[in-house]
Amino acid sequence: MPHIDANQMVETQRQDWNRVASAWEKWDKVLERNLAFVNYRLIGDARLRLGQQVLDIGCGTGYPALLAAQAVGAAGRVHGLDLAEEMLEVARRKAGSLGITNITFQTADATTLSFEPDSYDAVISRFCLMFLPDIHSTMRQIARLLKPGGYLAAAVWSSADKNPFLKVPMDVLKKFIEMSLPDPEQPGLFRLAKPRELLRVAERAGLQGVTDEEMSGETPFESADEYLASLMEMAAPIQMLFNKLSFSQRSEVQSEIKRTADSYRRGDKIFLPVAIRVVVARKP
Ligand SMILES: C[S@@+](CC[C@H](N)C(=O)[O-])C[C@H]1O[C@@H](n2cnc3c(N)ncnc32)[C@H](O)[C@@H]1O
Repeated sequence: MPHIDANQMVETQRQDWNRVASAWEKWDKVLERNLAFVNYRLIGDARLRLGQQVLDIGCGTGYPALLAAQAVGAAGRVHGLDLAEEMLEVARRKAGSLGITNITFQTADATTLSFEPDSYDAVISRFCLMFLPDIHSTMRQIARLLKPGGYLAAAVWSSADKNPFLKVPMDVLKKFIEMSLPDPEQPGLFRLAKPRELLRVAERAGLQGVTDEEMSGETPFESADEYLASLMEMAAPIQMLFNKLSFSQRSEVQSEIKRTADSYRRGDKIFLPVAIRVVVARKP
């Protein structure tokens, strides 16, 4: 594997997600509508119960941390950590408006976790672990901080070909700039897409693999415009590629993405397929 500068990678992530945080707040209702099913699945797979202590790694604007806080109730506690302070500011505002008080948010890098051993009943994470430069070291920390019998439940993107939601813009962008689909061996959207990949990482860190399943679904959008605007404003990795285009290329790319998205129309909505790998492991 070519040398990757882990510090640089983490710093780029921090800047990217801070930059798009306001868009995540703007599009929060669409995000909640389209991907809440993943949160419910993670909360169930992590076997959350009243009174438990839960850690959400890369919770961004509060997914699935806020749902977990409701599941563990007032006697429980959820700690959400994320690199991007601006994303966490949105999460804090959401917790406030929902009246959720058994939750704390911390700006921190998941690659340098330092929690007390055996301190959490469950670790949950949605769409973050594939961005970490050294997933093995983070997983060893997860195995350490979980209590015996505690669960890890994590969602990562499955392969690009099963995710038109993310692949449509990439296919169009590829025609305009030199790029390949993200290397599945490098941190990025599809780094943990292969079956059993993340489960094996968990097992190597000393956890017992429980399940590794692909969950598919569709993300509905009112229009191709809604799809394009929300994705381009929120998806930091895709936005970065888009920003490399010249001004005239941008409008060509936007038109082609909208045309392709429109081929997924059923009735008055557009339904972009998604496939998500949900991995569950347990500390013996
Ligand atoms: C796609 S967003 C997902 C946010 C949220 N979990 C959700 O599903 O809506 C990825 C999040 O991972 C965070 N992240 C990336 N690398 C991280 C790291 N090394 N430590 C902590 N958080 C990280 C980013 O800041 C970003 O908020």
